[in-house]
Amino acid sequence: MLKNKKILVGVSGGIAIYKALDLISRLRKQGAEVRVVMTEHATKFINPTLFREISCNPVAVTLWDEQPEFYAEHIKLAEWADILVVAPATANVVGKMAHGLADDLLSSVALAIPVTKPILLCPAMNSNMYANVAVQDNLDELLVRENYFVVEPAEGVLACGTVGLGRLPEPQELLEHIDATLGEWYGDLVGRHILVTASGTREAIDPVRYIGNKSSGKMGFAVARAALSRGALVTLIAGPTKEVAPVEANVINVQSTQEMYDACLEAYPKVDVVIKAAAVADYAPAKVAKEKIKKNNEKLDLTLKKNPDILKELGRQKKKQILVGFAAETTKVLEYAKKKIKEKNLDFIVANDVSQPGAGFDVNTNIVKLIDKAGKVEELPQLTKDEVAHRILDKVLKIEKQNVSRKK
Ligand code: C5P
Repeated sequence: MLKNKKILVGVSGGIAIYKALDLISRLRKQGAEVRVVMTEHATKFINPTLFREISCNPVAVTLWDEQPEFYAEHIKLAEWADILVVAPATANVVGKMAHGLADDLLSSVALAIPVTKPILLCPAMNSNMYANVAVQDNLDELLVRENYFVVEPAEGVLACGTVGLGRLPEPQELLEHIDATLGEWYGDLVGRHILVTASGTREAIDPVRYIGNKSSGKMGFAVARAALSRGALVTLIAGPTKEVAPVEANVINVQSTQEMYDACLEAYPKVDVVIKAAAVADYAPAKVAKEKIKKNNEKLDLTLKKNPDILKELGRQKKKQILVGFAAETTKVLEYAKKKIKEKNLDFIVANDVSQPGAGFDVNTNIVKLIDKAGKVEELPQLTKDEVAHRILDKVLKIEKQNVSRKK
């Protein structure tokens, strides 16, 4: 969760520096507070004034500033930060950090960050430089330290014309890595493996047609993002969707209910929580035509067969897992939801009336009720799907606590 987090961005002198500006702007839009430390080399590419304006804070460059914002600035900045993110991190900065050198402000700040705070390095350089044993050894050396994390550079055309590994990933990806690193370090879901299903399934009629539904995947993807930002390990099993998968999730793409069933059952023994936000088709064509069906007749009958009920099977096989279902209804929402909790052996259900404006499919908000096994109903107001996702995870933690105290 980036909101109100104090993010110290170390900017070193690589060509990818332009992406750091966009990253900082995005961090601020998420409610994070940002301060920037630049190396002297970085200031040759971009004037610190631009970083000051984007971060809305003074930018620190040198240990020898006549009028520093703080005295013992390297110490104060390290104390202030929740995380140090170095983006881009040049071979030089990586080398200095690996060997404990402190000959400028950024490397001194890095040394002053205590082991209780995470440091995320985003190396970006020419691919030969990146592949150099010296750089790789330095990165390995840093990764041994518990509070160091590294975002692998991406492949592609580099500014020098080379095609290869060394690009700084896009700002949105960097932002997701920062969020997940903060989650891994400070989050309340650290140590939990959460399986999330999202989007609708497609049941093939013939090679080009299918039966689908209106689910966009927005709710499930919001749950996956929220769980990652709170430190959980996330497996996301998703039907076809336009949503972009969070970079830190283990994503399994499926088409049909049967494929989702197989993927869920395989992952199930390893997970602690299942949140089944997918809109799964209850029926599928009994036979899939091998060739595209021609429009020869006035009438075409499709015979449908019942799909396996994934959640019911997970409920049957349940051992330690917390199981959360979704109920998208258009009438008698509460009555159906309560029935499902029993039938599928759920811990709670997220019920919504998809006929209400601002709730259900393909919108960014939802109006839901969380109903638990004991019949307790928590009615939530209209919230963004991201907010709903966090409320669902809060409830998971509450149930986990109850389960632990029951076992004692
Ligand atoms: O019984 P119903 O399909 O309405 O229940 C909805 C919940 O069950 C959702 O969480 C959905 O993901 C899950 N489900 C499932 N397998 C099915 C149908 C629904 O896991 N075949």
